[in-house]
Amino acid sequence: MKGKADILIGAQWGDEGKGKVMDVMGADVDVFVRYQGVANTGHTVILDGKKIVFKLLPSGMIYPGKLCVLGNGVVIDPEQFLTEVEELHNMGQDRARLAVSLNAHVVMPYHKILDHAQEAFRGKGRMLGTTGRGIGPCYLDKYARSSIRVEDLLDEARLREAVSSVLEEKNRILTKLYGEKPMPLDEVYEPAREWGKALAPYVENTTDLLYESLEKGKHILLEGAQGTLLDIDHGTYPYVTSSSTTASGGFSGTGLPVACLDRVIAVVKGYTTRVGEGPMPTEDKGEAGEHLRNKGGEFASVTGRPRRCGWLDMVALRYSMRINWCCSIALMKLDALSGLDEIKVCVAYNLNGIISERFSSSSSTLADCRPVFESLPGWHEDISSCTTFESLPEGAQNYVRYIEDRVCVPVKLVSVGPAKHQTINRGL
Ligand code: GDP
Ligand code: IMO
Ligand code: MG
Repeated sequence: MKGKADILIGAQWGDEGKGKVMDVMGADVDVFVRYQGVANTGHTVILDGKKIVFKLLPSGMIYPGKLCVLGNGVVIDPEQFLTEVEELHNMGQDRARLAVSLNAHVVMPYHKILDHAQEAFRGKGRMLGTTGRGIGPCYLDKYARSSIRVEDLLDEARLREAVSSVLEEKNRILTKLYGEKPMPLDEVYEPAREWGKALAPYVENTTDLLYESLEKGKHILLEGAQGTLLDIDHGTYPYVTSSSTTASGGFSGTGLPVACLDRVIAVVKGYTTRVGEGPMPTEDKGEAGEHLRNKGGEFASVTGRPRRCGWLDMVALRYSMRINWCCSIALMKLDALSGLDEIKVCVAYNLNGIISERFSSSSSTLADCRPVFESLPGWHEDISSCTTFESLPEGAQNYVRYIEDRVCVPVKLVSVGPAKHQTINRGL
C-alpha cells in the first residue's frame, strides 16, 4: 500500500471549523472523502471572499481535478445532492470529480416527515433538537435492514418493489402512530426514479475506487462531520446524531483499511458551542456567552439556530483526544476570544462534591456536572491579521500553550478569522 489517509474530526459538538481546515490542507490532498452524516452538516469555506456552505458534498469540491467521494457510511439526500451540484456548477466550482457509493443509503421523503413527527412526539422536555433532515430515521432503516440504497435507485423494477414494501410499513407508522397522512406510492417512487437517473453518472463502487487510489500512492483526506461528542456511541446519548463521527467511523464508512491511517487531526474551537438539546457543562448564558456568539457569529450554518456558547471544556477535549487518538490540533476562532479581560477554562467537573477530570458520555451524569474553572488573562488586540505565532498578543500565545500542555497534543494550526489566509500554520 503506497498511499495514506488522514482523518479530520470535530473534537467538540460540531461546527468547529472543519470546512476551513479542509480548505487549508487541501492543496496536498488527492482525494476528499465524506464517511458519515451528510445533510445535517454545514461546512463553511470562504473562496475569493464568497461563502460556500457544504452540506453534503466534500469541501474538497472547490479543488479542480481532485477526486471527491461520498462513501458508503453517508446517507444521501438526492434532492440536496442535486441542488448542491447545481449550485456549485453555477458558481463555476464543479471542477472536481465526484463519486457516490453504491452502498450509501438514501434519505427518503418519509424520513424527513418522521424526523419532525418523532421530535413532536417526544414533546418539549425530551426533544433532541435535530436538524430535521431525516438523518436519524434514515440510519434507523439502515440498521433495521429496510433501507433504500443508492444502488436501488438505479434499477427501476427493484426500486418500485423496495419503495412499495417500505411504504407499507411507513404509512402505518405515519398514520397510526403520528397521525400524519399516508404517502402514495407514486409520490415517493416517481421522484426516486428521477433521482436514480440524475445520480447514475456519479455512482461507483467507492470502496474499490478508494483502494485503487491507495495503491496509486494517493493522499486521502477523510472529512468528519459533526463532532466527537455527537457520536452515536461515544457522544452524549441520546443528544447525539445517528452516525459514528469519530475517527473509527472513517473506516467502516469507506471500506478503507485501518492500516492506511497516517494522522488524525482534531479541529477544536477555542471555546465551546452546541446546537440543539443536551448537556453542556460550560455553557454561559450571560455576557461571556453573548460575546462569543456575536464575535464568533455563532448561528448554525444549516438551520440558522443560535448556537449555545460557553468556555473551552478541557475535560471533554481530553476525552476527544483519547477517543480519536489525535496527533495534532487545529485551533479555530481564536479571534472571537479577543476583547475579554479573562478567559475561563474548565479543567475538571464537580459532581455532587466530588472533583473529577473524567468526561461522562452519560447525559444525565453530565447534566449534573458543574465546571471547575481556571482563569487566564485575556487580550484586547484584534488578532485577525496575525500571520505568525509570535505576532499574537502574549495572552493569546499563553492560551494556545496552555491548551497544548493540558491536552498533551500540539496545536499545529491557529485560525484567526474565517478566510483561508487568516491562518497561522505551525506545521500541520
Ligand atoms: P464546520 O461545520 O466544522 O465546518 O464549521 P461551520 O462552517 O459550521 O462553522 C464555523 C464558522 O466559523 C463558519 O462560519 C466559518 O466561516 C467560521 N470560521 C472558521 N474559522 C474561523 C475563525 O478562525 N474565526 C472566525 N471568526 N470564524 C471562523
Ligand atoms: P457539522 O458537520 C452541529 C446536532 C443537531 C442535534 C443533533 C442531532 O456542521 O459540524 P441530527 O439532525 O443529526 O439527527 O441532529 O446533532 N447536529 C449538529 N450540530 N454541527 C453539525 O454538523 C451537526 N449535525 C447535527 O443540532 O442536536
Ligand atoms: Mg457546521
